[in-house]
Amino acid sequence: MRRIKAIVYGVGAMNSVATRMMLEKGVDIVGALARSPQKVGRDLGEVAGLGFPTGVVVEDDPERVLSSRQADIAVIAVASYMSDMYEHLRRCAEHGVNAVTISEEALYPWNTAPMETAELDRLARQNGVTITGTGHQDVYWVNLVSMVLATAHRIETVTGRASWNVDDFGPEVAKDQRVDTTVDDFDTWLAEADRPPSFGRNTLGALVEDLGLTTVAVESTTRPEIAQEPVRSESLELTVDTGRVIGFTDVDTVKTHQGITLTFEMTGRLYLPGEADINDWTVTGEPELHLSNPAVPTGVTTCTQLVNRIPDVINAPPGFITMEKLPRPRYRTYPLGMYVHERKRFLRRGPLS
Ligand SMILES: NC(=O)c1ccc[n+]([C@@H]2O[C@H](COP(=O)([O-])OP(=O)(O)OC[C@H]3O[C@@H](n4cnc5c(N)ncnc54)[C@H](OP(=O)(O)O)[C@@H]3O)[C@@H](O)[C@H]2O)c1
Repeated sequence: MRRIKAIVYGVGAMNSVATRMMLEKGVDIVGALARSPQKVGRDLGEVAGLGFPTGVVVEDDPERVLSSRQADIAVIAVASYMSDMYEHLRRCAEHGVNAVTISEEALYPWNTAPMETAELDRLARQNGVTITGTGHQDVYWVNLVSMVLATAHRIETVTGRASWNVDDFGPEVAKDQRVDTTVDDFDTWLAEADRPPSFGRNTLGALVEDLGLTTVAVESTTRPEIAQEPVRSESLELTVDTGRVIGFTDVDTVKTHQGITLTFEMTGRLYLPGEADINDWTVTGEPELHLSNPAVPTGVTTCTQLVNRIPDVINAPPGFITMEKLPRPRYRTYPLGMYVHERKRFLRRGPLS
């Protein structure tokens, strides 16, 4: 068995957990990248709160780290949208390093960022590497749903409802969810022509692709979630006053040429004590079907899916390969290197590197 060499790209809330999981699954961390002076120059184990040193120093020069470590894969948790992700993914491709990311738009970016995705696909093919977006959506909002749909004879509607707690993640997420803005500022942001796509739009894109359907119409609406009482945000280290924004809900609907309508209502906001994540899906047609996962630990399952996908991404053909084209996600009993097929690595680097 060859050990996988990985670069931790972004050392925030998610990649700190993913770092521990990778080490526990026999992955060699050969580099770590962050941005802020509080993290750069320190040991990864210390920054990620592992309680032990890893011998890997957090750096801030991605070109140097990507070009010098002979890494198999960069595990990227820095940003949500392709406009921010493009440069990170381009660098990985150009340095011949596979990339797996939890960027929400990267899950299925062909509809919302087609030019960037096509260019990254071209670069990845040219350099013999794979780029894939995964995360919580991979199993809970696409693969599980798709498996349930596989038990239908005829589908009319697919309707999902999910919620997650902004505070399970880092400040990057809280900012994206507009936490602690005023409702007026929220409305202004919403009216902006270049508002990034909802996570639901990319999730439904992956489901439509997985089902082999053709989209004929898309509709998205967004409403702010407003504090009814002061709500604490640990990730932003502040308390949001009554009347200010604690997150928002997107409702995305896709109508298809095949007559199936898919709707996904997704709420990401600060929770009050006692609230928990939900993931509920209803399918109408023959027969009516239901999927319900109460109290999903979304923060943890984001990281497990990111880590468990590493061998699939290394094994996949070169290109921007979206997750519905990868094998069904699986639990990994053994060190992750055990699941890697040698062919692509051999073609890319030769047998001895
Ligand atoms: N798909 C999913 O299921 C899922 C789930 C959770 C989160 N996410 C997404 O994943 C991203 C990370 O989430 P998180 O909770 O880990 O956020 P976080 O705690 O805010 O961490 C973000 C990290 O990215 C680093 N970073 C940002 N820009 C960078 C750059 N240019 N170069 C190097 N490092 C950079 C930051 O470094 P510094 O701290 O040094 O500035 C920080 O360590 C967010 O966009 C979030 O929406 C996706």
